[in-house]
Amino acid sequence: MTDRSLADTKACVFDAYGTLFDLASAARRCADALGERADALSALWRTRQLEYSWLRSLMDRHADFWQVTGEALDYAMAQLGIAAPGLRERLMEAFLTVDAYPDAKGMLEALRRARRPAAILSNGSPRMLAAATQSAGLSGLLDHVLSVEDVGIYKPDRRVYELATRRLGLPAERVCFVSSNGWDAAGAASFGFTAVWTNRAGAPRERLPAQPVAEITGLDALPPLLGIR
Ligand code: LAC
Repeated sequence: MTDRSLADTKACVFDAYGTLFDLASAARRCADALGERADALSALWRTRQLEYSWLRSLMDRHADFWQVTGEALDYAMAQLGIAAPGLRERLMEAFLTVDAYPDAKGMLEALRRARRPAAILSNGSPRMLAAATQSAGLSGLLDHVLSVEDVGIYKPDRRVYELATRRLGLPAERVCFVSSNGWDAAGAASFGFTAVWTNRAGAPRERLPAQPVAEITGLDALPPLLGIR
C-alpha cells in the first residue's frame, strides 16, 4: 500500500552493504576453506567492521572502508583461529565484488521506469562501490554513487546524510532513504530523511531516538510503497 510521505519523496537513496549487497556472499565464496565457520566469520567480520567505523569516527581517526574492512577481517580471523595461505586476500577480493540481493535489480529497474532517481550512499570507498555496482550489473541503474570518503567520517554522522541532500539538490524529507541496517535507518530518520527499514532478518526495532516511517521485508516491496506499479 502506498505511504503518503513516501509517495511525496523525489529520489531514493540506498545503503549498500546489507541492503543492496549480500555481505554473507563473500564468506560463502570461500566455503571450501572456511567450512562450517563461514557464518561465524561473516558475522564477526561485519560486527567489527561497523564497530571500527564508529570507533574511528569517535576517535577522529578516519581511514577508508577498505582499510577498516581489512582490519576487521584480521581481528575476526584471529579471534576464530582461522588461518590459511591466501585466504585473507581471497575474502577481501570476494568482498570487493559481493553479490547483490536477488531483489535489488528488479526494484531499481522499477524506479528507473518510473523516472525516480536512485543513488547509493555508503561507508564504502569509491573503489569498493564501483567494483560492487559493476560486478552486480547495477551501475546503469544508479544516478549517483556517493561515498563517505567525500566527508571523511562514517554513518550515522549527519554530514554523511547531508552529502546526499547536497548532491541530489533535495530537502531531506523529499529523500526516501532505504537501509537494512536498523541503526542506519534510525540515523537517516534522525537527520530528517523519510526512511524505510528493509528488515531482512526479522530483527526487533532499534531502541534509538528516531524511527523509519515504514518497515519492509524485501526491496520488492519498495515500489508499491512509493506508489509505483
Ligand atoms: C554501508 C554500510 C553501513 O554500506 O554497510 O554504508
